[in-house]
Amino acid sequence: MIGPLEGADLVFICVNTPTKAYGLGQGKAADLTTLEAAARHIVRTASQPKIVVEKSTVPVRAAESICTILRANERPGVRHTVLSNPEFLAEGSAVQDLLRPDRVLIGGERTDERSRSGAEACLERLVTMNLWSSELSKLVANAMLAQRISSINAASAICEATGADVSEVALAVGADSRIGPRFLCASLGFGGSCFQKDVLNLVYLCECLNLPEVARYWESVVTLNQYQKYRFADKIIVDLFNTVKGKRIAVLGFAFKKDTGDTRESPAIDVCRRLIDEGALLRVYDPKVASSQIRLDLNQPEPDEASDAAVLTVRLLSCEGAHAVVICTEWSEFSQLDFGRIFASMAKPAFVFDGRNVLDHEALLRIGFRVRAVGKRL
Ligand code: UGA
Repeated sequence: MIGPLEGADLVFICVNTPTKAYGLGQGKAADLTTLEAAARHIVRTASQPKIVVEKSTVPVRAAESICTILRANERPGVRHTVLSNPEFLAEGSAVQDLLRPDRVLIGGERTDERSRSGAEACLERLVTMNLWSSELSKLVANAMLAQRISSINAASAICEATGADVSEVALAVGADSRIGPRFLCASLGFGGSCFQKDVLNLVYLCECLNLPEVARYWESVVTLNQYQKYRFADKIIVDLFNTVKGKRIAVLGFAFKKDTGDTRESPAIDVCRRLIDEGALLRVYDPKVASSQIRLDLNQPEPDEASDAAVLTVRLLSCEGAHAVVICTEWSEFSQLDFGRIFASMAKPAFVFDGRNVLDHEALLRIGFRVRAVGKRL
């Protein structure tokens, strides 16, 4: 599992802590099997004292479990220290985030001078705190980012119902320096391997701490996100005259965000599944996601031969004969497409559903498209 630890002062635990898929806490709690195995491996292998750094995202007080395992198995005279140093990198900008972090958190079980002075010497924006604060800060940071997106997405539903424009609302709201402009892009819903997992992890923690009101508050962030994904998919069905059965739909983008090939919890998955359930024939294109991954996510086996009636065709940017183009990921290349040509090749009326608000909607309307965006009437 891990290579030899000899010679290392610091040992980082960076293992996955996915949502538990079985037993107690299933669907919410973090699965700490690998974290525990890592702690046991370290204490079995290390003959010198180590600073064990918890890098994985964990429930609050996971470091306590690591400590207990270490203490119970330490060799005589070998005393390990546990620190928390949560990860704040985002996919697609990880190097940038690493080189210019907003903050670096270190939580310690006690003031460990050796690790603190070493870290202070090489890190700017260092914040030290107690272990539990550090562990909780990671979960709350992700939960608040996710909550911001659910808040603007909730506003987008109000905008569509009233004629307000969510981009204008986000601009006005974000101009308040207490709120700030970032992470206010309304979308078809957030995805990725972190937000939902970490919010549910927090929900489970609150339930275990007998804080049901707090648990429900955070859970509503995920509930709203589910609602937003299905609201977007249902809009496509309703606008295509209440049926997509046998209709070709071109889906552009499948990754959970641009500049990554990662599809974990991608909102595109829920939208595509809903459309397939309604009998649509999808052509999914993503510049970075492998066809096999798209098929796996949508439970669609490789067809014997590609036919026009295939439920799913992938890796082909073709809108020919399609009734609608659906944007699920904000890839920059999509705004460069020749929509005049695309329009000419489509069934009429031709629809564009922009789930990321990245296209030039006025230009699309001039071409003749019927355009639907998130949080605005066009
Ligand atoms: C997130 C956090 O942003 C990182 O700080 C954190 O370290 C990471 O999780 C983690 O816990 O490992 P990541 O999931 O890679 O990073 O991506 P984000 O940029 O946060 O985007 C998440 C989702 O929210 C994407 O689907 C994105 O399209 C969506 N989003 C983001 C919106 O719908 N609107 C926005 O305004 C911003």
